[in-house]
Amino acid sequence: MSQSATHLAGQPAGNSYDDVPYPSNPIDKSHPDRLHCIAAIFGMRPAPVDRCRVLEIGCAGGGNLLPMAEALPDSQFVGIDLSSRQIEQAKTTARTLDLSNVELQEMNILDVDERLGKFDYVICHGVFSWVRRQLQDKLFSICAENLRPQGVAMISYNTYPGWRMRGIVRDMMSYHAQQFSDLKQRIEQAKAMLSFIVEAASKDEPYGQFLRSEAKMLEGKPDGYLFHEHLEETNEPLYFHDFVSRAAQFRVQYLADTSISSMLTKHLPPEVRGTLKILGTDQIKTEQYLDFLRNRMFRHTLLCHADVTLNRKLTIQPVLDLFVASNLAPQDKDLDLRSVGPAVFKNAGGMVTSHEPLGKAAFWHLHRIWPRAERFPELVKEAQRLARSGEPDPEQTATDTDQLAAAMLDCFLGEHLELHSLPSPFVSEISERPVASRSARLQAAQSPIVTNRRHELVALDDVNRQLVRYLDGTHGRGDLVSHLTRLARDGQVRVEINNRPVADGEKLREALANTVDVCLPRLAQCALLVN
Ligand SMILES: C[S@@+](CC[C@H](N)C(=O)[O-])C[C@H]1O[C@@H](n2cnc3c(N)ncnc32)[C@H](O)[C@@H]1O
Repeated sequence: MSQSATHLAGQPAGNSYDDVPYPSNPIDKSHPDRLHCIAAIFGMRPAPVDRCRVLEIGCAGGGNLLPMAEALPDSQFVGIDLSSRQIEQAKTTARTLDLSNVELQEMNILDVDERLGKFDYVICHGVFSWVRRQLQDKLFSICAENLRPQGVAMISYNTYPGWRMRGIVRDMMSYHAQQFSDLKQRIEQAKAMLSFIVEAASKDEPYGQFLRSEAKMLEGKPDGYLFHEHLEETNEPLYFHDFVSRAAQFRVQYLADTSISSMLTKHLPPEVRGTLKILGTDQIKTEQYLDFLRNRMFRHTLLCHADVTLNRKLTIQPVLDLFVASNLAPQDKDLDLRSVGPAVFKNAGGMVTSHEPLGKAAFWHLHRIWPRAERFPELVKEAQRLARSGEPDPEQTATDTDQLAAAMLDCFLGEHLELHSLPSPFVSEISERPVASRSARLQAAQSPIVTNRRHELVALDDVNRQLVRYLDGTHGRGDLVSHLTRLARDGQVRVEINNRPVADGEKLREALANTVDVCLPRLAQCALLVN
């Protein structure tokens, strides 16, 4: 570990986000569609997402806001950030994407007032813990003053008790790094310091094990993340109950967590559930005890006006107007949709067992059309068609609707499936001249990582990246093959058959024709193709 002779007197001059921009990415948990569905489940009447007004506070380079704006052209998006460099970057991207529904302003949170107008959704991700208390209070007051009556805000923050532990890593990194004036060196030194401690700490002790898991988590993160998470002067985690009490002082109440399953105790062992029932006399207390139990480090909290009546005894009613999407895959290849008996469906989030034909048929259908979402009444019809013969009468349909809505709600609460308020903003069929979203095309020109229409990051290999760049709706399959062939001849794309490179000739075109046929459905499956 090398040491610099230069010692730091204070924070580097200017806005640290101008010096080290934050990696600006889509945050799927902050999407108004998600906020809408959760608010609806708790009895609110949130604004339709395709005709709403959204404010993002601390929007950085627009990585979250701009893809949303492109996908929802009839909604209005306002992004503010203190960093002129990041706002300029966001403005450049918005201009390139030709977005007319976005307003980006270099602005201090403290300067937000009624001139910015009212919003249906306010998003503030990765800001609260990193600003002084006065600014934190201002964020609550923006929720009170700038949200419409049925508006929903999402604020994320570092929380205790988890940050008591993560804070150790921050403390040691910032203690060591503060003696270096050069930002790059500070980051390098902070990393070197952590590696040193991880190596030196006993591997058998809980402390060493914890440090190793933290170091592993940081390994995959960009420098901008490490700098702002661990080397910024301000980073003030707080307990969930403190956050909610402080919000209440501004007449703003806790609505829900974007990880809805984390609010519930139903997935815990019965004895734990029993004790939590005694301790958790209300929703806030229950969740605070759950945070203790899980050593929670981070929260995405939804807030609304204090005078909104919430329904915490959930009903199936909101599900009836929503769309459902699920990638739960049947584990039995020869699944019989018409018989009674257990059938297991799994995805990365866990598993669901369905016993009734109707439920099995619904999961089967959703799996088949994934990632597309199905409007709930259509899902009932399709499940009935697959599970039974003959036309169902209205009474049967009413029973099926209730049964299926209850099952879908339960799975949503367990985060095994998704609810959406709009039809999927991507296509699953490959058109004659396929189109990738403008955001994805622009991103693919700059990096192999792009944002899809599910508001997630997707990593592309060279061929897919070149394809996405070229999918502007003017090129048919033949053009795509010719384009890739040209790139392969120029050495920009590598083609191999049986591990041997193919650089020219008819074989190359043939190989690339096959590649295009394989890649286009995959891009559709990744929600990268649009109308
Ligand atoms: C950690 S970054 C998070 C960026 C983005 N929301 C995300 O999660 O990817 C915090 C952002 O808040 C902005 N910020 C910090 N203090 C601010 C203030 N007083 N007014 C406006 N923006 C501020 C920073 O410039 C930075 O872009």
